[in-house]
Amino acid sequence: MDKPRVFVSRVIPEGGLELVHQACEAEVWPEEQPPPREKLLEKVRGVDGLLCLLTDKIDGELMDAAGPALKVISNFAVGYDNIDVPAATMRGIPVGNTPGVLTDTTADMAFALLMAAARRIAEGAEYVKADRWRTWGPKLLLGYDVHGATLGIIGMGRIGQAVARRATGFDMRVIYFDPYCDPDKAPFVDVGLRCELDDLLAESDFVSLHVPLAEDTYRLINAETLSRMKPTAVLVNTSRGPVVDSDALFDALEAGQIAYAALDVTDPEPLPGDHKLLTLSNCLVVPHIASASHATRTRMAVMAAENLLAGLRGERLPNCVNPEVFEGG
Ligand code: GLV
Repeated sequence: MDKPRVFVSRVIPEGGLELVHQACEAEVWPEEQPPPREKLLEKVRGVDGLLCLLTDKIDGELMDAAGPALKVISNFAVGYDNIDVPAATMRGIPVGNTPGVLTDTTADMAFALLMAAARRIAEGAEYVKADRWRTWGPKLLLGYDVHGATLGIIGMGRIGQAVARRATGFDMRVIYFDPYCDPDKAPFVDVGLRCELDDLLAESDFVSLHVPLAEDTYRLINAETLSRMKPTAVLVNTSRGPVVDSDALFDALEAGQIAYAALDVTDPEPLPGDHKLLTLSNCLVVPHIASASHATRTRMAVMAAENLLAGLRGERLPNCVNPEVFEGG
């Protein structure tokens, strides 16, 4: 029997790629940069399955370009705002993602960014490299204490809760805003005090974002919400760039309306090297690497491959964001 044909839109870690190669006739996009739109439209033509990345826009046009053989879309990410899920559901195509396996790795990064911002690690490293270190200084590179501070978590899902767990180890007070979180179903939510967004913004020394990108979270952090934060506040974003209005953030950081931002994700993304945010000493940006540990990226690759293969067999995906496609079928 012929193996199913699939397109894999980038070289993913070996553990997952091997599974795909064993079961499929796979074409893997070999370049470091994602396939341009035209190439992607061409490469998916006639495939049975697609394993894609958060850098690929997967919409109805692309699903139609693939054609009726397309049985599954497997995203190598937990977030799936790059995929038009209703368009997939309409076509009966299940969409897979990689939840759970990257929770702790992403929470580690959120905490690393929080600590780096609080204690000005990046600025300190730059200072030494620039050969400016002449003596021990009583007021050199003063930062903010993490212990005893209030951490406001926006979005108390898996990753938000994992960040809360880390914060308790640092003797922080945790408060959170999440209109969707059911405290009975979130085992660790009792470490934090649920509150309204306004109160969280006013009280937090650190604000960490853990919401998916959706209509109601697009530019949730904007000129108005930034104006309600403390002048000493640090903003950490490991969710999605467009949750923050970059222009408003620049203005707030430049004016000292908040103290610092540490961003794993940006809008636009990638952030061009000459972007105004990068001119600020109180803004630390890393290139969307929160889940980038060796072990976690391998786990994500295996999970993405398992979702793909299940879809090709016509089975329920182990992790499916639109399970309604299986209902009644
Ligand atoms: C990374 O940002 C992911 O959604 O997995």
